[in-house]
Amino acid sequence: MIIINILDLLLQENKEVMLMGFLEIAQERKSVREYQAKEVEREKLINCVEAARLSPSACNSQPWKFIIVDEPEQKEKVSEATSNKLLPINKFVKTAPVIVVVISEPGNLPSRLGGLIKQKEFESIDLGIATEHFCLQATSEGLGTCIIGWFDEKKLKNFLQIPDNKKVGLLITVGYPEKGEQKRKKRKDLNEMISFNRY
Ligand SMILES: Cc1cc2nc3c(=O)[nH]c(=O)nc-3n(C[C@H](O)[C@H](O)[C@H](O)COP(=O)(O)O)c2cc1C
Repeated sequence: MIIINILDLLLQENKEVMLMGFLEIAQERKSVREYQAKEVEREKLINCVEAARLSPSACNSQPWKFIIVDEPEQKEKVSEATSNKLLPINKFVKTAPVIVVVISEPGNLPSRLGGLIKQKEFESIDLGIATEHFCLQATSEGLGTCIIGWFDEKKLKNFLQIPDNKKVGLLITVGYPEKGEQKRKKRKDLNEMISFNRY
């Protein structure tokens, strides 16, 4: 009996440690735009996709696929679709050792019907959640990421032979962060975004 109680206590403590750990990971994750040249282990990338695989989705539709681009020539081509001379904001993408292309697959019938009736873009919501699961796992693996929403979808679809009925949802750059100054998170105050029981 005493042993069981002690085990219970230990489990409870562990749960608290896990919760603390999650908040720390959320605080640690930030958009990384400078990377070391160091190669990223495929096992770590697979862990990130595993974390994304476990994310929730409307009607459990799981409308996603992850193309991991880690071959230098492929990566060069993919990064060309993320910036141009007029819009150089994403120039850093080509310095990332890995670019993940997150494909938005058509949702299952219940989620598509539900989305139509409720006028919600469930596929985009699902994709965003899965992408963040990926990024948080990457943080816990010591990797840096940046989600990229600005890219030339047509170029990417042609180059990566993505079928017409699929969309490129987002890209994620991945790599070991260049060690530099710690960036402070700019966020609205908690009081601006929380209320209880009423708007
Ligand atoms: C949907 C989405 C699209 C984004 N697109 C870009 C992008 O094209 N280029 C870029 O440098 N950062 C992009 N970001 C990163 C945001 O700028 C960044 O998350 C935000 O400024 C907060 O900073 P933090 O991630 O460091 O906390 C994107 C983020 C999201 C969620």
